[in-house]
Amino acid sequence: MTYTPSTILFGGDYNPDQWDAATVSEDIELMKRAQVNTATIGVFSWSKMEPREGVYELDWLADVLDRLHAGGIGFFLATPTASPPPWFTVAYPDAMPVRSDGTRLSHGSRDTYAVSAPAYRAASRGIARALAERFGGHPGLRGWHIHNEYGTLDYGPHAALAFRAWLRAKYGTLEALNAAWWTAFWSQGYGSWDEILPPRDTQYLHNPAQAIDFRRFSSDEMLAAYTEQFDEIRASGSMAPATTNFMLPTWNHLEQWAWSDAQDVVSIDHYLDSRGPDGDTHVAYGGDLTRSWGGGPWLLMEQNATGISADGRWYTKSSDRTIRNSLGYIARGSQSSLFFQWRQSAGGSEQWHGGLVPHAGGSSRAFATIERLGGILNSIREVVEPPADGRLSDAEVGILWHADGWWALETPQMPNDALTYSDEVRSTHRALWRAGIETDFVRPGAPVDRYRVLVVPCLYPMSEATAAWLSDYASAGGTVVVSYLSGVSDESLQIIGGGFPGRLRDLLGIMSEQIDVLAPHETVDLGEGLAGTEWTERVNLLTAEALHVYQEGSFAGLPAITSNVAGAGRAIYVSTKLDQSSRDRFFADIAVQAGLTETVPGAVSAGVEAVRRRGRDADYLFLLHHGDAPIIVDGEGVDLVSREVSSGLTVEAGETAVIRVDRGHTVRIRLDGA
Ligand code: GAL
Repeated sequence: MTYTPSTILFGGDYNPDQWDAATVSEDIELMKRAQVNTATIGVFSWSKMEPREGVYELDWLADVLDRLHAGGIGFFLATPTASPPPWFTVAYPDAMPVRSDGTRLSHGSRDTYAVSAPAYRAASRGIARALAERFGGHPGLRGWHIHNEYGTLDYGPHAALAFRAWLRAKYGTLEALNAAWWTAFWSQGYGSWDEILPPRDTQYLHNPAQAIDFRRFSSDEMLAAYTEQFDEIRASGSMAPATTNFMLPTWNHLEQWAWSDAQDVVSIDHYLDSRGPDGDTHVAYGGDLTRSWGGGPWLLMEQNATGISADGRWYTKSSDRTIRNSLGYIARGSQSSLFFQWRQSAGGSEQWHGGLVPHAGGSSRAFATIERLGGILNSIREVVEPPADGRLSDAEVGILWHADGWWALETPQMPNDALTYSDEVRSTHRALWRAGIETDFVRPGAPVDRYRVLVVPCLYPMSEATAAWLSDYASAGGTVVVSYLSGVSDESLQIIGGGFPGRLRDLLGIMSEQIDVLAPHETVDLGEGLAGTEWTERVNLLTAEALHVYQEGSFAGLPAITSNVAGAGRAIYVSTKLDQSSRDRFFADIAVQAGLTETVPGAVSAGVEAVRRRGRDADYLFLLHHGDAPIIVDGEGVDLVSREVSSGLTVEAGETAVIRVDRGHTVRIRLDGA
């Protein structure tokens, strides 16, 4: 489904149940002043919506929704199931989640539920149905926001039962399970399904196949809970689009491709994880991932209202940065700029978390930024119309993404526990971003003929089908770049014998027979200015040639980076973790060799992030100026922000421009005075 609202959705989580009537009235006036058009209501309001079991009190909500609608403000209505009320947990203590160490959690916070518990599932269906019946036809309803950030893992008895059922459906027989899990080691052979447990704390290391299956099960189980609520909503007759907000991975409990298939529109919450310029690469990473998951326009459901929380500290975002980052998501396909939360709480656990209306109120400088943002979003609103083919990006580089890679590298006592999937993926994306090259993320097995380069970062478990698909892609003329720790095991994390990477030896034309891990901060020289970290391998060339050779260390004189002719294309293997600056150079070179150029010539060297968003009748070049000197934009187009013709347009450091150009056309950037 291509989600096309009539304008860019602007606003955020609104929790009116915290406030008195006068404050709500003021809120609606302030929303109008800032041109806010969307509020997300009810995310954590279960105890107010259903104060006693089966008693739904929704008049207060009806009143707020009607008032918002009368003020021209639409809403996403949330089902509040991320936060069951205290009466529920007292009545159904078995529906509280159990940690892997056996501790059963109590209420008092949020996200405290055992997703497999029948009582929790029934109560969730009940409140979803009650809300849908009452508000499913409300004229202000923009869509359903089911639950919030699914992600509570449960290791308790209900989870054990559901896990066993999932395993039976997957493996059919205990023999198949025992073989897949390699249970002969450490006397783990299962003689009955009832003996199988979630990976609860045990004396020493878990069985890795059991652990990854539990992650897959938990994702599926949460998706089943989502689907039940979705079905209730549809059964009530409400056809408004439905979504749940994924938490963009800093932790990862969902297999996003399967989840995205179940969404009418994919949405995420995204909180920057660093204060400095790397936050800008993080925006791009979140945007590219989410556009790719849903294959089209998506919704930024939450971002940080005024600041960045990193390392336990709260840093204020500048006004320019708030605007640049908001437009950064839209450049990459978001149809919204929504925040957590509208009005900063006076009390409660997140009272210091920012709000669009800060503690100081609507006359503050922070709120002036929000008004400024509202004006800009209004002036660029035409970008929400997608092109007829639905494709928002012209990216010609794909990065393979799958949660299996993430979960596999979480296995304790890998040869190097410092290596994480997310770091490898993000470092790769960052390198391409720094080269001004746009990227998509790709689902294993998806159509890939439009990509000139496909990158495979640390996808440790790999099916035969995925390996064959990569081979076909290369044979047809593509360039595949595979990192260490990809294709090493089958889907059950059993290492494929005969040399690494078992699944991809033929494609890469190499056989790697040994690893040697580097010490923290140790680097290894790969020649021509490149350096590796963390991981090295003894690579034998079969049909490949060496592009870089280890200059030192255990494997001095042996290949470190190789290239193999594969049909009409080629397959490159990087047997070490490139440090970031080496990675930047390496991928910039790959891009040049593949004939890729930056989206807007001159952008990277001027410190400008340039992103092309394809629209219905034109393309939109988003110029996000992260640099520190004014730039001049030359070319044919109109800047929707300033309404000036772009030829000779000056964009000051920190500011943004959104230039409408004819399809496929571009502009040039030069530094002011150059
Ligand atoms: C999100 C969550 C919000 C709020 C926010 C604060 O993950 O959905 O409810 O807690 O974080 O950062």
